[in-house]
Amino acid sequence: MPVSDTSRDTLDKTLLLWWEDFYLPIFEYILPKMPQLAGKKVLELGTGTGGTATLLAKRGASVVGIDLLPFRLTEAKARSAEYNVTESVEFALMDAMHLAFPDNTFDFIISKSVLVFTAHTQTAKECYRVLKPGGKAIFIENMRHHPAVWFYRKAFLKYSGKLHYFSLHDVKTVGAEFDGLEHREFHLSAVSALFWQKCISISLFYKWTFRILKAIDTALLKCLPFLKRFCWITAIICHKD
Ligand SMILES: C[S@@+](CC[C@H](N)C(=O)[O-])C[C@H]1O[C@@H](n2cnc3c(N)ncnc32)[C@H](O)[C@@H]1O
Repeated sequence: MPVSDTSRDTLDKTLLLWWEDFYLPIFEYILPKMPQLAGKKVLELGTGTGGTATLLAKRGASVVGIDLLPFRLTEAKARSAEYNVTESVEFALMDAMHLAFPDNTFDFIISKSVLVFTAHTQTAKECYRVLKPGGKAIFIENMRHHPAVWFYRKAFLKYSGKLHYFSLHDVKTVGAEFDGLEHREFHLSAVSALFWQKCISISLFYKWTFRILKAIDTALLKCLPFLKRFCWITAIICHKD
């Protein structure tokens, strides 16, 4: 039986796990795209330590979280137990590019920072196959062209050269495997607020700079949509008719 969360409108930020201030507006955008989660079957690709799977199970969904790493699945199971949703979540060792589920199985599919590790089109094709008609696949992915993030990856993330970060063209390529596509890009100047968290830690400065820059980004992206390609994160919502 799925467990439902009585406070389901309150997002538990701790389940966003990392960069939670940056992922919060993204989850506030995508969660209304998955209405009435109670009893719905959800697949999470690359569940990692199970934060998103647990968050969705707390909202009543019946979730299957898959990952390629067994130790991550052990951590994910422990997290779901910590939040008392073990009956609503299963975890399985599986490759997102080769899903061992029959066609038309899931109402929703979600992933966060996972398609970048895979061949986008192959994963999208598999998602389309296992999605029920009327279902949605939601991919929250890291983009390629944010100048500061690009520099950070080059300088500090040795493995980043192997990842397939998203351009707007890649977003459209993934969307082309489905019957409908909407997407929204997040965080342009707001990334600079991290200076007050990572370089000189002054939490009040961080909080206010982030808040102000986030508002500036919203206005900027509305007035100058070509800047979307320079954002840090994209939320891609794909529909199956
Ligand atoms: C950056 S982590 C994100 C974890 C989790 N989604 C989160 O937001 O906390 C990427 C995860 O995707 C998993 N992964 C990478 N390639 C995968 C694949 N082909 N199939 C399934 N999982 C994969 C990794 O093992 C890792 O746990």
